[in-house]
Amino acid sequence: MSSIVEKDYQSQKIKLDTWKVIFKIALNYKGAYARVLGCGILAGIVDLCMSFMTMWAIDGFMSPGTTKNLPLYIVAIVGLQALLCLTTLLMVRACGYLESNLSSDVRREAFYKLQTMSFSYFDKTAVGFLISRLTNDVSRIMEMISWMGIDLSWGTMAIIASLIAMFAVNLKLALITIVCVPILAIVSVLFQKKILKYQRQTRKYNSMITSSFNEGITGAQTTKTLVREELNNQDFFTLTGNMKRASLRAALISAVYLPVASIIISIAIGFVLIQGGHDVMKSVITVGQLNFFINIGNMMFEPIRHFAGIFAEFQSSQAAAERVVEVLTATSDIVDTPEVIEKYGDSFNPKRENWEPIKGDVEFRNVSFWYKENEPVLKNFNLKVKAGENIALVGATGGGKTTIVNLVCRFYEPCEGEILIDGVNVKERSQLWLQSSLGYVLQTPHLFSGTIRENIRYGRLDATDEEVENAAMMVGAHDFIRSMEKGYDTEAGEGGSNMSTGQKQLISFARAILADPKIFVLDEATSAIDTESEMKIQAAAEVLLKNRTSFIIAHRLSTIRNADRILVIDEGEVIEEGSHRQLMRKKGHYYELYMNQFRNEQFTKSLEAL
Ligand SMILES: Nc1ncnc2c1ncn2[C@@H]1O[C@H](COP(=O)(O)OP(=O)(O)OP(=O)(O)O)[C@@H](O)[C@H]1O
Ligand SMILES: [Mg+2]
Repeated sequence: MSSIVEKDYQSQKIKLDTWKVIFKIALNYKGAYARVLGCGILAGIVDLCMSFMTMWAIDGFMSPGTTKNLPLYIVAIVGLQALLCLTTLLMVRACGYLESNLSSDVRREAFYKLQTMSFSYFDKTAVGFLISRLTNDVSRIMEMISWMGIDLSWGTMAIIASLIAMFAVNLKLALITIVCVPILAIVSVLFQKKILKYQRQTRKYNSMITSSFNEGITGAQTTKTLVREELNNQDFFTLTGNMKRASLRAALISAVYLPVASIIISIAIGFVLIQGGHDVMKSVITVGQLNFFINIGNMMFEPIRHFAGIFAEFQSSQAAAERVVEVLTATSDIVDTPEVIEKYGDSFNPKRENWEPIKGDVEFRNVSFWYKENEPVLKNFNLKVKAGENIALVGATGGGKTTIVNLVCRFYEPCEGEILIDGVNVKERSQLWLQSSLGYVLQTPHLFSGTIRENIRYGRLDATDEEVENAAMMVGAHDFIRSMEKGYDTEAGEGGSNMSTGQKQLISFARAILADPKIFVLDEATSAIDTESEMKIQAAAEVLLKNRTSFIIAHRLSTIRNADRILVIDEGEVIEEGSHRQLMRKKGHYYELYMNQFRNEQFTKSLEAL
C-alpha cells in the first residue's frame, strides 16, 4: 500500500468557503441554471394543476354522472401532460449539459494546475489518490450540483403551490396534512444521513481500490520479485469486503426508509380520511376535494425526500468537495514573481523575445536545502561551475547528488542561500527560461505514449523528421530504432514499457540533443544496463557534453573519467574534488570508490570466465 496516506477529511460540516469555489465555477453557466429553474417552477405548477384536474374529474363528471365539458377536460389534460413532458425534457437536457461542461471545466482546470505544480507537491500527494480525486470526486460533485437545480426548483414550487392550494380549498384538512411535514422531514434527514454515511464509506473504499489497482499495475514487477502477491491479495480482499459491507448497509437502510416514510404519510392520510369523510357526509366538502388532499399528501412527500437527500448529500460531499477544491486552489512552492511574469511571461504564455540567451554559468551560494524540516540534505553548499564545464558527481547513495541537480533545474528551490545562473539569481528569471535551456536525462527515463519519433520530437516540437533522425544518429540510437518493425513509428508504449532502459535512455539523449540545451544533466541509471548499452550511452553522452555545462551523476565511474571536474559528494558536502587523474593520485575517497568498483568488476569477470 502507498506510504503516502491520504489526508483524512472527516469533516461533515458544510463549509461555505469550499462550496464558494465550486459555485463560482457553476456560475459560468447561469443561463443553463436559469433554464432549469424556470422549467422546475413550471413543472411544479403543472403537477398541482394535475391534482386539480382529478378533483374536477370526480366532482365534475363522476359524482354528477355527466360528460358535459369532457372534451375540454381531455384537451386540458393532454395539454398539461405535453407541457410537463416538454419542461422535463428541457430540464434534463440543461442538467446533462451542465454536468458534462462543469466536469470537463474542473478537470481541465485541475490538469492545468497539476502541470504548474512543483515536485514537492507530488512528493506529498500519491498518484492513485490524485487520479481518484480527479475522476470520482469531480464526477460526484458535479453530478450533484448539476442535478440539484431540478429538485430545488420543482420541489419548492410543488410545496409552495400545494400549501396555497390546500389552504384555499379547506383549512382544517390543510392543517392536518401539514402536521406530517416536519415529522417526515426529520425522519428523512436522519435516514438520508445514514444512507449517505455508508455510501461515503463505499466511495472511500472505492478510491482506495483505485489506488491499489494503480499500485498493483505500476508495481507489478516489484510485487513479483518480493513475492508479495499473496499479501497484496489479502489487502485487496479486505478492501473489497469492506466496500461490499458498506454498500449493503446503504441499500438496507434505503430499503427501510421508504416504508417508514409511507407509514407516516399513510397515518396523515388516515386522519385526513376520518375528518374528510365526516365532512363529505355533512356535505362540507366534495369527494373530489377529499381526493385532492390525499393526492397532495403524496405529492409533497417526494420533494421533502429530495430536499433531505440534497442536504445530506451536501454534508457528505463536503469531504470530496474539499479534496477537489484543494487541487484547484493548490499553489506551487515555486512560483515566478509578478515582475518576472510581466517581463518573461509564464509557462503557458512565454515572452521569448525578452529572454536573455543562457551562457551556462552555474553557482550555488551558501545553499541549504531540506525536504523535511530538521533533516537538512545540503548545508551551506557552495559550488561554482563555468559555462561549458563538465562536472561529475559521485558518492554514496543518499548523499545528495540528485538533490543538487534538481536544484540546478529549479525543480526545488533552496531553503536558504541562492542559485545563480549566468550570475543572476534564478528567481529573477522565469522557470521556463531556465527549463527550456535544460536537458535532463533521468535515472529512469520517461517516454510518453506515442511513437518513438514523437518522443524524440518532444525535445523541439518544430524539428523536421530529418532532424529527429539526425539526433538519433548522433547518440547512436538510429540503428536499433531502424531495426524495429515500424522503425521510428514504433509505439513507445505508455511510460516506454516496450523498451529496455538502455534504449529509453538513448531516446532521451536524442530528445535532449534535439533541444540543444545549454545545461545538461544526466542522472545515470545505476546498473540497469549491460556493458554494450553502457558504451553506447557513454559515447552518446560525450556528443552531448561538448560545449555545454553538464552535471553527470555516474554510478559507473568509468563513465566520467573525462569530466573536467569530479566532485565526491557525501552527506550533502563536497568532500573531494578534481580531475580523475588528480583524484587518483591523491588516493583519497575517489580512489577508494574507483578501486572498489574496479575490483568488483574484475571479480565478476573472473567469475564469469570460470
Ligand atoms: N522527495 C524527497 N523527499 C524527502 N526526502 C528526500 C527526497 N528525495 C531525496 N530525499 C532524501 O534526501 C537525501 C539525498 O537524496 P538524493 O536523492 O539527493 O541522493 P543521491 O545522492 O542522488 O542518491 P542516489 O545515489 O541513491 O541516487 C536522502 O537522504 C534522501 O532520503
Ligand atoms: Mg540520485
